[in-house]
Amino acid sequence: MNIPLLRLSNINKSFGPIDVLFDISLEVHRGEVLCLLGDNGAGKSTLIRILSGVHRPTSGKMEIDGKEVTFESPREASEHGIATVHQFGGTFPLMSIGRSFFVGAEPTKRWGPLTVLDRRRANEIAVREMRQLGITRIDDGDRLVGGLSGGERQALAIARAVHFGANVLILDEPTAALGVKEAAQVLRIVLQARQKGIAVIFITHNVVHALTVGSHFAVLIRGAKAADFRKGEKSREEITDLMAGGEHMAELEAELESHMAMHDHRPPQIEA
Ligand SMILES: Nc1ncnc2c1ncn2[C@@H]1O[C@H](COP(=O)(O)OP(=O)(O)OP(=O)(O)O)[C@@H](O)[C@H]1O
Ligand SMILES: [Mg+2]
Repeated sequence: MNIPLLRLSNINKSFGPIDVLFDISLEVHRGEVLCLLGDNGAGKSTLIRILSGVHRPTSGKMEIDGKEVTFESPREASEHGIATVHQFGGTFPLMSIGRSFFVGAEPTKRWGPLTVLDRRRANEIAVREMRQLGITRIDDGDRLVGGLSGGERQALAIARAVHFGANVLILDEPTAALGVKEAAQVLRIVLQARQKGIAVIFITHNVVHALTVGSHFAVLIRGAKAADFRKGEKSREEITDLMAGGEHMAELEAELESHMAMHDHRPPQIEA
């Protein structure tokens, strides 16, 4: 039997009286990219905070390789091979590339000696790992993270997760703040991580980005799973409609366009 690397069963989450997640069940296998789609406030970040040990679920079960797990802290999640690049963060602008690559990598059996940091070595490893993911412009690990582009920062965080042997890589809106070229670079890196047999959970609002990398898709609406399907089973328009909670976005857009055309809503001309 093919046991999923990660399985969530009937996860519920409330913050005091506020119910945020309702009965979420999901599976991710090795080498798959599960795209978690949903509008603002749908509960995507809350769900991945549960997976990454930041929040405890109110009820429900998590399994890794068929064994039930509970995480009391982010550290416990990372010890189970779950690496998360959180929305709006994950890297440290005032730190060097080399240091930020190893920060939080406290001595454990797997990578003990390296954390008593030999700066040159750390820089070399960080630069090498980024290079392996196709980020070739960076050759000095002493450079500050704050001087990297958004895409390069995402790449650094992903390279780090790959280096430290993550089984599950969770990316919370990694392309949201990026331009077209940078987003493409991050999408390419996601595909590389997938080829390495890592299971990726990719959170996004962007249906095109999702369709580019995703093998599976789940749509959250107001904390509940509204759909769960494989690549090729739904069109881009259908997915967009689903995310909008069943509104026919394509129709709305067409209506808006014809309205604009009819009323000639050109921007006001500014006189020189
Ligand atoms: N600690 C908390 N206490 C109370 N409510 C919370 C808490 N964290 C999240 N929520 C609520 O849970 C809902 C889901 O939030 P969440 O951040 O998971 O959404 P999201 O899908 O990630 O949205 P976005 O696309 O904007 O990032 C929101 O209504 C939010 O206000
Ligand atoms: Mg979020």
